[in-house]
This record gives sequence, C-alpha cells and structure tokens, in this order.
Amino acid sequence: MREGISRPVRKPTNPNFSSGPCRKRPGWSLQALDGAALGRSHRSKEGKAKLREVIDLTRAVLEIPADYRIGIVPGSDTGSVEMALWGLLGPRGVDVFAWESFGGDWVIDITNELNLEDRRVFQAAYGDLPDLGKAAPDRDVVFTWNGTSSGVRVPNADWITDDRSGLTICDATSAAFAMDLPWSKLDVTTWSWQKVLGGEGAHGMIVLSPRAAERLTDHVPRWPMPKLFRMVRKGLVTEGLFVGETINTPSLLAVEDAIDGLRWARDIGGLPALKARCQENFDRAAQWVSQSDWCDFLASREEIRSQTSICLKIVDPEISGDQALQAEVATAVTARLAEEQVALDAGAYRTAPPGFRFWGGATVEASDLAVALEWLDWCYHEVRKAARA
Ligand SMILES: Cc1ncc(COP(=O)(O)O)c(C=O)c1O
Repeated sequence: MREGISRPVRKPTNPNFSSGPCRKRPGWSLQALDGAALGRSHRSKEGKAKLREVIDLTRAVLEIPADYRIGIVPGSDTGSVEMALWGLLGPRGVDVFAWESFGGDWVIDITNELNLEDRRVFQAAYGDLPDLGKAAPDRDVVFTWNGTSSGVRVPNADWITDDRSGLTICDATSAAFAMDLPWSKLDVTTWSWQKVLGGEGAHGMIVLSPRAAERLTDHVPRWPMPKLFRMVRKGLVTEGLFVGETINTPSLLAVEDAIDGLRWARDIGGLPALKARCQENFDRAAQWVSQSDWCDFLASREEIRSQTSICLKIVDPEISGDQALQAEVATAVTARLAEEQVALDAGAYRTAPPGFRFWGGATVEASDLAVALEWLDWCYHEVRKAARA
C-alpha cells in the first residue's frame, strides 16, 4: 500500500454525500420555498395548481409519454411501490428480481405479505445482478432500476420485450432524473423526491402505462386495499389522482421544494444535463478507484455500476478476508470523514458489505466528490496507520 499520503488541503464546498435524503441543488436556500402555498388547502385552486405543476414538470423533464398517468402519492417511494404491488399483482404469475436491500423488501412483500403462490424469485449477492434474461413476457416483473445499497443498476431494458403481456413494475427511485428510463418498457415506475433532485422525503411519484391503468380496472385484488393504496373508485381509475388531487394531504412545503428541484432540472437543460452531471461524478470516482490500491467498486462489472449510488469496498490485501476488521476500519474511516467535515453519511448501507457509499446524483458537484475521495484516501491511511502502531 502507498505510504506518505499527505493531508488534503482543500475541502468540498459541501460535505453532504448521503444517498437519501440527498444534497440540495446548487444554490438552494430556504428562500427557494417562499412561494409555498402554506396554510392553504391542497384542494384550493392554488394548492391544486402546485401539485399539477409537479406533474407537468415531471412529464416535461423526463419526457414521459402523454398517455402515461403520473400521480403524487403518500409514503415516499415505498408507498408508491407498495400501492403498485397491492393494486396490480395477483392475476398473473410474478417474477421478482433483487440484488440488494430494497429489492429484497419487495421480495418480502410478494412472498410473505401478499403470499403470491405463482412467484419466481431471482436474487443475487451484493455487487452482482441476477439473470434478467429469465424474465418471462407473460408474467409480471418486479425489479429495481438502481439498487441504491449496492450501487448496482440494470444496464438497460433490452431484456423486457415490447410484446409482453405481463406488467413491469420498476422501483426507479435512485435512477429517475439520472438514467434513461425507456417508458415503452416500463408499466409502473416509482420514485420519491428525496433523491436525484435533492427534494424532501414525504411523497412518492407513480407513473402508469396505459396497460397498467387497464389492469387497475380489469382486476380486483383479493386482499383488502387500504385507502392509501386505492387508485380505483367504483370500477374506474381515479383520474383526479393524476392531475394533482392527492389521496390525502400532502406537505405543500415539500411540494414547493419538488417544484424548485424540477425547475432547476429544466433550466439547466433537462434530462441530458442531469445525466451528464451524474456521469461526471461517476467518472471522477472511477478515475480515483482506478488509482487506488485498497478500494474498488462493490459492483462487479462496469456496465452495471451506478452513476448515482457509488458503493465502494475495501480490497486492501492486508485485511482482505477479514470482514469484521474491514467493518471496523470502514466505520472508523466514515467517522473520520464526518469529523473532518469533508463527507457526511458516506458509510455503506447498514446491510451491505463494509465500505463506503458516496451519492453522485445531479445535485452533487464533481469537484466536491473528487476532493472528498482524496480525503477518503487520507482517512483510510490514517486509520490503518493508527491500527498498525
Ligand atoms: C431503491 C430504493 N427503493 C426504495 C427506497 C425506500 O425509499 P423511501 O424511503 O423513499 O420510501 C430506497 C431508499 O433509499 C431506495 O433506494
């Protein structure tokens, strides 16, 4: 291992590298929320206009087809995914693909809660992807576009056929606004506001293809449907939900913040600009990793590496094979990064292998990430030096 690494002089302009809630956009301040419809009803003309603006800006920035419905729903991304699972699954067999913690949660929902008998579960360990080619076109498919806790994403949607009869349900919470989402391949897509655009945790977004909307009315779930999950009333799709008439009360402060993030996204050049910012962050990380003799990506292959949740593992030959020691070192390094105020919340996800996770979404400046990684190098060597002394 290299010795004599000197303490970096520069610090990132912003030390926030959490993978959710994620860093606010450049230049954000509370004043950005001055126009919030606070103390007003979300059913007032003004309140509804705000919610409608979120939907319209979302459609414009993400280039969502006009015949896809976009709704704002309760319970952040979890709420959106679960309303899709509860509302749509049942009439067909389901294939569920998981390779980290969040995808694993949807496996638990399908297996233990919904108890769907005709299910096939395809799971892979942290760092890998299951064989997506196993997805059957006549079955429903549930998957995560980007596994935030392992930094592994699907490389594309080529494995989803255009003439499928099943529905695809995609948790895209750390992919939306960062990666291309081919709408023709996705029947249900979900995310929250707290990720790539740096919004607030609170509400979820759900996007339904025309076929997903058809399923809503063709099929009556055989389990009870709480009000929070209902997208159908008297046999018809609740169309109001898709123009901003939310199921229950949203936070109009969080709504204003979502509008602020979306306007920023639009004004910097929309999806191509957001993607470019994420790619630049990833490229800086890849460059740093390529020069490191103790650290590597957790994702095993280049084409499945996430541009947003950049997950790193320790490959230092001196401690390789000793998972407990690696965990101890990773915890000490993460604490040191925070103490130095150079990278906050940069530890690996609690159920992931020991290591680090730096958010590389569009709100992060590449120069800040590059500097934070210099500090990671220095902190790692300091922690190891102290352990050896
Ligand atoms: C892929 C994925 N799914 C689901 C969730 C849960 O999201 P929320 O807390 O917004 O419900 C997260 C949170 O990080 C996530 O990354």
